[in-house]
Amino acid sequence: MPKKVTKAIFPVAGMGTRFLPATKSVPKEIMTLVDRPLVQYAIDEARAAGIKEFIFVTSRGKSALEDYFDHNPFLEQELRKKGKDELLKTLKSTNMESGAIAYIRQHRALGLGHAVWCARRLIANEPFAVILPDDVIAAEKPCLQQMVEAYAETGGNMVAAMEVPHDKASAYGVLDVDEDMGSVVSVSGMVEKPKAEEAPSNLAVIGRYILSPSILRNLDKIKSGAGGEIQLTDAIAADIGSDNPVYGYRFRGERFDCGSKAGFLQATVAFALARDDLRDDLAEFLSTISNASKAAQ
Ligand code: UTP
Repeated sequence: MPKKVTKAIFPVAGMGTRFLPATKSVPKEIMTLVDRPLVQYAIDEARAAGIKEFIFVTSRGKSALEDYFDHNPFLEQELRKKGKDELLKTLKSTNMESGAIAYIRQHRALGLGHAVWCARRLIANEPFAVILPDDVIAAEKPCLQQMVEAYAETGGNMVAAMEVPHDKASAYGVLDVDEDMGSVVSVSGMVEKPKAEEAPSNLAVIGRYILSPSILRNLDKIKSGAGGEIQLTDAIAADIGSDNPVYGYRFRGERFDCGSKAGFLQATVAFALARDDLRDDLAEFLSTISNASKAAQ
């Protein structure tokens, strides 16, 4: 049985240029989906999957992210005094155990693979998860928890995968499928951002991974892949055919690309419509503006 996954890396050192000017001073991961920052969704998903150590790879300008995880005794006391128990509960649910979070600095944005490699000493020789907070997944059972359960059977390396239209595949890492076993597929190749006509399938990798420590050794050797950045995909692909096979996992749930403006807006609407306190008013508003926009065309 593979070793339990208790550590997760959250690479958050990217520049978030697609959200400029907002990301000039606000880290993308702190931007709020309804009333919670993106990073809170990622933390909650990791906790549900049994993660105990949370390693953030950060960069210049991300101090708001670090501050977010500080306890706020003053605010807690004020809410307690005013009897705002529900808000107090919400606030306390974001508190992290002392020593559970570590921050590592990526000094230059050399790519996702490089960001993961920066955390190598904190991972040492254990399997670990990687969560990209800008991929937000709405699911009955959180995506990483689904993967941890599947990984307990397979071991090796596991990447979250979803079917995308063929003409969209060039925006992702794409899997070459060896054997399709339903939720789990074994992988014979991986290509980062292939040209549409060269994509080996329409099964795209999204931002959840469970990786063997061998990936960190592969990253040691890799100089630079597609786009001049150090790609995590290349380091995972290098394990194919080794003792640590690579599996794709078709998760159950809906993924929103909150690294893009359209994806962020869609997630905002979907998450708000899922809330009892917001659904009715928002649905009515959406129907009114949609009718008005149709009438104007
Ligand atoms: P993105 O490709 O979304 O890049 O990174 P980005 O910089 O965050 O956003 P844009 O494209 O400029 O708008 C995917 C994930 O990898 C992390 C990012 O923080 C994000 O979580 N990343 C990327 C790093 O940590 N370091 C890097 O050098 C590159």
